[in-house]
Amino acid sequence: SPANPATSVPLSKSYEEDRNAKSTDVEYTTSNGATQRHPYTVQRAGLDGPLLLQDFHLIDLLSHFDRERIPERVVHAKGGGAHGVFECTDDFQDLSCADMFKKGVSCPISMRFSTVGGESGSPDLHRDPRGFSIKFRTSEGNWDFVANNTPVFFLRDPAKFPHFIHTQKRDPATHLTGDDDSTAFWDYLSQNPESVHQVMILMSDRGIPAGWRFMHGYYGHTLKIVNKNGEWQFCQFHVISEQGTKNFTQDEAAKLSPDYAQKDMFEAIERGEFPQWKLKAQTMTLKQAEELWREKKINVFDLTHIWPHADFPLREIGKLTLNENAKNYFAEIEQIAFNPAHMIPGVEPSADPVLQSRLFSYPDAHRHRIGPNYQQLPVNQHIAGYASGNFQRDGQMAFYNQGSRPNYLSSIDPIKFRDPAYSLNDVHGRFVGEAVSFLSEIRPEDFNAPRALWQKVFGEEQQQRFIETVSGHMANCKDEKIIQRQLTIFKEVDQSLGERLEKATGVKALEGGVAAMQFNGSHNGMGNKKIPANG
Ligand code: HEM
Repeated sequence: SPANPATSVPLSKSYEEDRNAKSTDVEYTTSNGATQRHPYTVQRAGLDGPLLLQDFHLIDLLSHFDRERIPERVVHAKGGGAHGVFECTDDFQDLSCADMFKKGVSCPISMRFSTVGGESGSPDLHRDPRGFSIKFRTSEGNWDFVANNTPVFFLRDPAKFPHFIHTQKRDPATHLTGDDDSTAFWDYLSQNPESVHQVMILMSDRGIPAGWRFMHGYYGHTLKIVNKNGEWQFCQFHVISEQGTKNFTQDEAAKLSPDYAQKDMFEAIERGEFPQWKLKAQTMTLKQAEELWREKKINVFDLTHIWPHADFPLREIGKLTLNENAKNYFAEIEQIAFNPAHMIPGVEPSADPVLQSRLFSYPDAHRHRIGPNYQQLPVNQHIAGYASGNFQRDGQMAFYNQGSRPNYLSSIDPIKFRDPAYSLNDVHGRFVGEAVSFLSEIRPEDFNAPRALWQKVFGEEQQQRFIETVSGHMANCKDEKIIQRQLTIFKEVDQSLGERLEKATGVKALEGGVAAMQFNGSHNGMGNKKIPANG
């Protein structure tokens, strides 16, 4: 390494040097750089005696090996990704002042795709939503788009998330997953019918995407976008695959490699077949959001519902291309840290409570999974065009500790400030409007979209596969009461759907339908209604 002319401390390797490391360029050393005769050497007392404590070479090797694993992501542990570029093709700056939305502007991106429930070694063709994350490294900081391949989600009460996810983790006693025992999964869903739209998508022909190239990404949450005059609107971002969508049936997926999606994308990029997506947006004014609630009972902060496309058409913004594989999976994909709270001027969170909770949860997870200085890792660093500084110091692995610059807001050596693009007070001053009441209550409108899926989208053959997938999955559910509850929910979606499932499972739905059931956890907006102690 070259010596640093200013000090006696040598400069470390650059990120690119490390990324492109080749065996022919290096010589074998211990981690402190001392050369060794051979990687297999150990020091022992005599020829056959015990090993020596002074053998740093062996201790260095073993102790580092012992620490190779970092915690895997608590959700979305199995995944893969690649690097590329975003180009803005259609100006969006009338609605958002973000520089990346200026026609002609481009920026580097990294994307990561994943399943949700499985462990890091689990099959990537599991029937599960797919995570769909993008890190846009813009001139104004990193914007992380942390989304899924489905436009809706299972829940709208954030406190339910750990409960729901736990139903897909290993059972505390049997240590089995849902593949062997689906009781907990259906137990949760049958008590929380706002999930049924997402469940219908999951169990349908769209439940197993044929690789990551062939699926769309949906932000799902409502965001706020703000222009240079401080005027804001609500926004839903969509990322639409230029490859189109393709899915596997359960049988096809079962025959393929557990790393099919990883292999498919890696090899496509190596062949020069770069996957592409279009970034698009639906936008909505506050007034339109209030009308949407009044007229269609769709709450703009409810991510179990979509915005009707006829009323809110998609507007094209730009193109994403993945053109480079990671050279080192751990450094560039495992250590990448996506965070919905990484936003840039012109993109703001809405008051959606699930989004609000995610703003906390992700950086909290990163501090645990990677460490407090995770933002200093090359793959997570921003490339904003301004020199950036702050008052964060020290902690484990502080590679960039901002030299001798004051570690407090000094009057002697003051840091520069930049005027904000707009006033946050104007953007967030009014959180609550007519559109945001009664977020969590189970309402008849919750069943409209799933009903349309069943009646208008599926067609006879897909309906039949849906019945087989759901009843097959329920064969591993050990409690008939749970199946009864879930069939009642499906019957509310559509009478014939419920009846066909009754026949397939041999279980009868409950008398009185969903109206006779009580649901826990739907507290927000229920006024003085008594909360049932036990659903
Ligand atoms: C990953 C929490 C809802 C998409 C994660 C991680 C946590 C988390 C802790 C692991 C982060 C890491 O270790 O790097 C939550 C909580 C939620 C929630 C608490 C609700 C209260 C959602 C929703 C979506 C989503 C609604 C999609 C619309 C993702 C994706 C990843 C992820 C794509 C993987 C990111 C990556 O590729 O590294 N989530 N999540 N999550 N979540 Fe969520």
